[in-house]
Amino acid sequence: MKPPSQPFRRSVHIAANWKLNQSRAEAAAWMREFVAHLRQGWDELSPESARLLQTFRILIFPTLTLIEPLQEMARRARIELGAQDVSRFERGAYTGEVAAWQVREVGAVWALVGHSERRRIFGESDEVVAEKLGRVLDAGLRGMLLVGETLKEREAGRTEEVLRRQLSTALEGVEPADAIRLALAYEPVWAVGTGRNADPELVREAAAFIRGVLEEILGEDARFVPLLYGGSVNPENLLGYLVLEQLDGALIGGASLDPGDFWEMVKLGAAVHLRRFQG
Ligand code: 13P
Repeated sequence: MKPPSQPFRRSVHIAANWKLNQSRAEAAAWMREFVAHLRQGWDELSPESARLLQTFRILIFPTLTLIEPLQEMARRARIELGAQDVSRFERGAYTGEVAAWQVREVGAVWALVGHSERRRIFGESDEVVAEKLGRVLDAGLRGMLLVGETLKEREAGRTEEVLRRQLSTALEGVEPADAIRLALAYEPVWAVGTGRNADPELVREAAAFIRGVLEEILGEDARFVPLLYGGSVNPENLLGYLVLEQLDGALIGGASLDPGDFWEMVKLGAAVHLRRFQG
């Protein structure tokens, strides 16, 4: 008889999506300030906490042009960099596109796929999102797939239908073995950049639904996939999400542009990570 499988403890991820912000000088100054907080904070840890935090993840998604210049500082501080988007093509006559393998070449280890701003402003369909996720995983990157309903869809009672469609289309070609390089973010469109963060109870319900669909698609490997919340997260409301057992962190837009605020949120994430892994 197979022994019962141990509950898998997922790492906490605190991620910054800078969107179309930060000059090279601003990004370097942000990094210097954030890393100074980080070094001081980490220096105060016990050896046991420092060991447990080796699996805690800090991610930054800057514009593509900033990945290479930030790479060395990020590597030394154990911050992982990622692209906000990649091309659905691999190579060829696609003016203006940047391929997943090219962003990996300059130091990205992650890529976002299916952000609602890409879907809404640039008209990306679920099929395009699926192609992009395939490119990301083929290039050896970690992919973070974003899903979420609009206000209209929520008000029409279609949230679950929309989440199921977004997940099943995007994950169609994904093998269970890819689960270790996959992450999800639930970002209700009406909460993104609006200052109107979603109620944690609503997020808990959506996250439980997403976890269920993910398990239908990937089987037991779904347990490896971290699920983040995004949408008007700030240092005051973050903990309300981090305490939800269905969630494994947050993807932060506007509030991540202030290195002091981002540090406050990283500290909360680290504390929740420690609580998860201690004992
Ligand atoms: P805000 O935190 O600015 O609402 O943005 C969230 C987001 O889109 C992260 O990807």
